[in-house]
Amino acid sequence: MATRYAVGNWKMNTDLAGAVTLATELSVALREHPPADEVMVGVAPPFCFLAPVKEVLQGSSIELIAQDCHPEAKGAFTGAVSAPMLASLGVQRVIVGHSERRAVFGDDDATVRRKLEAALGAGMRVILCCGETLAQREAGQAEEVVGAQLKAGLEGLSADQLAQVIVAYEPVWAIGTGVTATPEQAGAMHTALREQVLPDLCNGDAPAVLYGGSVKPANIDALAKTAHVGGVLVGGASLEASSFARIVQGCAG
Ligand code: PGA
Repeated sequence: MATRYAVGNWKMNTDLAGAVTLATELSVALREHPPADEVMVGVAPPFCFLAPVKEVLQGSSIELIAQDCHPEAKGAFTGAVSAPMLASLGVQRVIVGHSERRAVFGDDDATVRRKLEAALGAGMRVILCCGETLAQREAGQAEEVVGAQLKAGLEGLSADQLAQVIVAYEPVWAIGTGVTATPEQAGAMHTALREQVLPDLCNGDAPAVLYGGSVKPANIDALAKTAHVGGVLVGGASLEASSFARIVQGCAG
């Protein structure tokens, strides 16, 4: 079982040719320099490129991940993509609660929970994202905000369900800004989650917690050594195969 995760979130980037090229280059790079055994690597292309990227990843150990799903299984939801649809494509894991979904698309905690349950119900695993804004951090509310997001997402899940979930702590002020949380800031939050928040919410094994927010080849080594960081969720730096491959190598710690 993986103890470290390196996940690339491509967001709304690439086109068909670019997605296929990126997936191809990444699988070649990881074949040449295989990740440590404990590192699980995954990529989350846009919905429309999941199928062609899956073709490219055939035979590799790179997980196919979706960036979101709709909470309902089917029906009159124009433009939406449901969890069973993703599962039928071979998607193995779904990201829910990303801060861009929360801020831009209005996903609140209740919606995030419904999406999480939809993904689990369709037999996929989940990455539950959480993170505070700069204003919330400056007001001293970071742990409270993140704790509430995790409570809404995880409370009451069975041990079997929890075993299918990992968490990504992504301070909103660090996403796409080039400002990374320092190892001290990340370490403080990850320690609080591991020692206080998650034990209260989880019976048995608590999920791994990844860090996300301007992760780059230049900072992966320090982040990977940070207490309780169980891997990374990478946006911008996952759009280039060589930089993501370097992050995968660094992720082993
Ligand atoms: P970033 O994005 O690495 O570009 O900051 C991280 C994320 O949103 O998952």
